Amino acid sequence: MTDLAARFRQLWDELAPVGRDERSGGYLRYALTEPELWLRAWFREQADRRGMPVHSDGNGSLFAWWGDPLAGDAVLTGSHFDSVPHGGAYDGPLGIVSAFLAVDELRAAGVTPVRPVVVGAFVEEEGARFGVPCLGSRLLTGEIAVDRAAGLRDAAGVSFAEALGERPAGADPALLGRFAAFVELHVEQGRALVELAAPVAVASAIWPHGRWRFDFHGEGNHAGTTRMADRRDPMLTYAFTVLAANKEARLRDAHATVARVAVEPNATNAIPAKVTGWLDARAAEPATLHGLVEAVRAKAAERARRDGTELTLTEESATPLVGFDGGLAKRLTTLLDAPVLPTGAGHDAGVLAAHLPTAMLFVRNPTGVSHSPAESATDADCAAGVTALARVLEELACR
Ligand code: GLV
Ligand code: MN
Ligand code: MN
Repeated sequence: MTDLAARFRQLWDELAPVGRDERSGGYLRYALTEPELWLRAWFREQADRRGMPVHSDGNGSLFAWWGDPLAGDAVLTGSHFDSVPHGGAYDGPLGIVSAFLAVDELRAAGVTPVRPVVVGAFVEEEGARFGVPCLGSRLLTGEIAVDRAAGLRDAAGVSFAEALGERPAGADPALLGRFAAFVELHVEQGRALVELAAPVAVASAIWPHGRWRFDFHGEGNHAGTTRMADRRDPMLTYAFTVLAANKEARLRDAHATVARVAVEPNATNAIPAKVTGWLDARAAEPATLHGLVEAVRAKAAERARRDGTELTLTEESATPLVGFDGGLAKRLTTLLDAPVLPTGAGHDAGVLAAHLPTAMLFVRNPTGVSHSPAESATDADCAAGVTALARVLEELACR
């Protein structure tokens, strides 16, 4: 093992037990809950150890500064700590741990930035607690209204403002204006790098994607006494909609997933009064995505007519097609001699890309699996990621 891989492992092991579910082996690191608060304290400690003052943006995201926070032209790197339910270890934290280690690499090489280098930890990237992904970057950039964000509630009814302990501050153009570029390092969420036999890639684009809530309303009634012909069962409309989403996505080479469902009253012997399903839909082109969601909506509505149920559809979040800054991506590809990959996954980098030159680095994932405990990366590849990130920071902040 190289010295850098060993240092990666040492730092990584500090986080390994935090929020880990013994049974699944996955992580429950929801934004602003105990494990994530522990990780945020760890972030402050790491920054402190490196003499990097930490500032919050008033929305729950943290920024550790190497250099004068008021100097401007800063290069931001980092990612997020929060996970999906029973998620993998690498999605998010890898970008933060790698950022601190890249700072160490630059310092060990005696490199001094001429522009500040900033390590960031964005809050609620997955949207697993409050429903809207990339909430921290959307707030910072003003892409979500403060009132809406403040009022988002988790499953227990706690609002984002309550969890944060204050009303989120919202857009901060002054802070945003001090960043000249953002580079997010992330574990790859597919097997392209395995096939290319390369440890690190540069991102080209993020598919447009979003989340739509389908509320199917019917009539709650007794499972034993209600004749089949008399039922208004929203579970049927829901089930049909899930199959329709799958079919419509396949027809378009797009992605549609219904992986979260809530049933009321959720009893074995009661016809449900209401079923809610969340559709996650993604496609390479905005028109394809729009056509997909519209087709699913039309099929669900038609089925609801037949079932005697009612459908209400709510768009909970939408992220447009992101084409990362071509000039920056080209510069990094040449610098690192790395392949270029698009992705269907969402990232804070996708939100920030509309506001400042942004790039992403992907680190090889041998299983190709993500949002699952099976997500993985070798220490050697993580070290290669740190080396790549250090070179990028040197290129962007030290010349
Ligand atoms: C975040 O990882 C997403 O793509 O939903
Ligand atoms: Mn994720
Ligand atoms: Mn992520």
